[in-house]
Amino acid sequence: MTTQRTFSIIKPDATRRNLTGAINAKIETSGLRIIAQKRIQMTKAQAQEFYAVHAERPFYNDLVSFMTSGPVVVQVLEGDDAVAAYRSVMGATNPAEAEAGTIRKEFAENIEANSVHGSDSDENAAIEIAHFFSAEEIIG
Ligand code: CMP
Repeated sequence: MTTQRTFSIIKPDATRRNLTGAINAKIETSGLRIIAQKRIQMTKAQAQEFYAVHAERPFYNDLVSFMTSGPVVVQVLEGDDAVAAYRSVMGATNPAEAEAGTIRKEFAENIEANSVHGSDSDENAAIEIAHFFSAEEIIG
């Protein structure tokens, strides 16, 4: 196992329902460390760029509207195999398919308002972290 970093977003459906602490408890209980964190209001341009890979998908415009509908908490997580570890803590994208005990099973409203985002690869983690954090803001 290697120590890795991954990027996380606590999405507007979760901040709206005051679930930041409950989600962070699940992250920390899993052994991942929150080594950078800030609450921001994403701009439309930031959301469009962040999700550019989905630009041709039918849900893209709704996703950008949702991600800018309220505050989000962006985070850097560190731990053993952090990318895979966080994906297992989050559960499946669609909460209806997520395993019991995962963040999305317990908290997500639907496939769009699914409470959290996590990077899908080491390479994307580095790109996503650099979107929102400078090196000085990450205290490992
Ligand atoms: P996330 O892991 O942030 O990556 C893309 C996001 O698009 C996803 O979580 C959901 O919030 C949203 N989304 C909305 N509809 C779909 C869908 N049909 N399939 C996958 N993702 C979707």
